[in-house]
Amino acid sequence: MEVEPGVRTGEVMAKAEEAGLFYPPDPNSWETCTIGGNVAENAGGPRALKYGVTRDYVLGLEAVLPSGAIVRTGSKTIKGVAGYDLTGLLVGSEGTLAVITSIVLELVPRPREVATALCVFPDAVAAGRAVSRVLAEGILPRTLELLDDCALEAVGKGGPFPAEAGAALIAETDGDDADAVFSSLERLGAICLREGALDVLVAQGEHQREAIWKHRRVLSESLRRLRPRKIGEDVVVPRSRIPEAIARFKAIGAEAGLLVATYGHAGDGNLHANVLFGDEDDPAKVQACVEGIVRAALELGGTITGEHGVGLAKARFLPWEQGAETIALQRHLKAVFDPLGILNPGKIFAEPAATLGA
Ligand code: LAC
Ligand code: ZN
Repeated sequence: MEVEPGVRTGEVMAKAEEAGLFYPPDPNSWETCTIGGNVAENAGGPRALKYGVTRDYVLGLEAVLPSGAIVRTGSKTIKGVAGYDLTGLLVGSEGTLAVITSIVLELVPRPREVATALCVFPDAVAAGRAVSRVLAEGILPRTLELLDDCALEAVGKGGPFPAEAGAALIAETDGDDADAVFSSLERLGAICLREGALDVLVAQGEHQREAIWKHRRVLSESLRRLRPRKIGEDVVVPRSRIPEAIARFKAIGAEAGLLVATYGHAGDGNLHANVLFGDEDDPAKVQACVEGIVRAALELGGTITGEHGVGLAKARFLPWEQGAETIALQRHLKAVFDPLGILNPGKIFAEPAATLGA
């Protein structure tokens, strides 16, 4: 499919499905976000666990450089290794290298069967342990989304989420054979029960699936029900370290006297740890809490951002993760594309971008 960047991601998905095909990347904002934004940020989503992120589906791009030159990168074919992977470089470049004007997407066959379960746990550490276990046992669900106690409180109990839930996983398997899809969900459910799940509720039909997912899609906004303001991180940790990460984020919040809600794409190790606060809270304390979370993720062998990008907010964290030479190389690339530094100045790199020859 070739699309212009302003097309909404939900429309891309719907058009693909009309043709019996599938565009897997599903950022939770798919009803409102645009494919161009997804490409600029290399957006992920719940299904990234099985299907990968936006970059895995972009075959080629048309882009305009700050000089006015129009370049085409990649190809319209499934394979293509001519020259450097400029497509891969532009995807996720956060609008700092070029203006993307057209996108060639790879579509895959649409899985015919999907099964969804809500696995209810007493706490998020137990849920995190179950995530590590499920993956270690060789099951690859298409989603394994975590909601901790704070996230569940924001969503509101009742509805699909039972009152006794201290954490939940939304697990989904898919494929072409209904029995196989259901039996891998059953195996997953059995592992969750072994790891301390209180219950595994299998959605009966599309209506119940949607009842679960609609809460998850708006969760980022629902958190404002608990506290008026938040800083949402999207760190990633190795999947064997998920339970430890969740426990550390909670402890960092508790020490600062702030609520930390952790939810997200636990199957990828991609955790949205959100520091919640109000105007009365000391901004320095909030910042210290955010920094503690980012440092903890790095100490566990992770990264500062799994899908939201660096932008302005995380620019000062980049040197915590990447060495001076790696950052210098990226700055040189930026200067080659954008010698005058006119595209999204200040993004990604904390200090002013180097100009060519500087
Ligand atoms: C989500 C966004 C915040 O997963 O990435 O809800
Ligand atoms: Zn996310």
